[in-house]
Amino acid sequence: MIVAPSVLSLDYSRMNEQMQEVNASGAQWLHFDVMDGHFVPNLTFGPDILKGFCKLSSLFMDVHLMVDDPRKVCDFFLPAGADMITFHIEAVEPEKIRELAEYLHSKGVQAGLAIKPNTPLELLKPYLHDFDMFLIMCVEPGFGGQAFNEGAPERISTLRSWLNEEGLDTHIEVDGGINAETAVKVKEAGADVLVAGSYIFKDDIRKAVKSLG
Ligand code: DX5
Ligand code: ZN
Repeated sequence: MIVAPSVLSLDYSRMNEQMQEVNASGAQWLHFDVMDGHFVPNLTFGPDILKGFCKLSSLFMDVHLMVDDPRKVCDFFLPAGADMITFHIEAVEPEKIRELAEYLHSKGVQAGLAIKPNTPLELLKPYLHDFDMFLIMCVEPGFGGQAFNEGAPERISTLRSWLNEEGLDTHIEVDGGINAETAVKVKEAGADVLVAGSYIFKDDIRKAVKSLG
């Protein structure tokens, strides 16, 4: 199980200290939420902030783009230290989705495709072979600290069965409302990458990461 703390919930007045805790926690990835104020009603980080995190940590940098134009925005994050770039299926024309995955691969990073809770899961089917990871959102994207969508486990197990039928061991990442309780449900359903923000940063970081892993 891969745990990916979401730095959206980090206390930026204690960034160094909290990143030392994250580095020592056993987490393997760092989840970095990019929001443009259009695709979601919130605004977050640019590439220089990612460069700063790369200096503070050698964890795998998992960049989640919640932006209207991921083709344009990914070019800012490719040279800034991203190891994986995930964009939303809702943000890209169907005929451009595979092309963007291929572009990311050609730049030497992994590619992920994210889907919001109310978007039909079937829309992922044509792309099962094109991505290293699918991100099942368990809240409406935009903010940390929201309640887990109880419909998510069924979507995860359906997607896991489609991937198994194709002989693929692609990552399934979950994001939103993950804590020790909901982690059990998503793991059982077939997720293998758990993003958590408010749960990890609210108190004892190491203990929280261990309780998810
Ligand atoms: C929400 C972001 C998440 C967020 C999750 O749109 O994509 O990564 O940090 O926060 P929690 O774990 O607090 O729900
Ligand atoms: Zn995210």
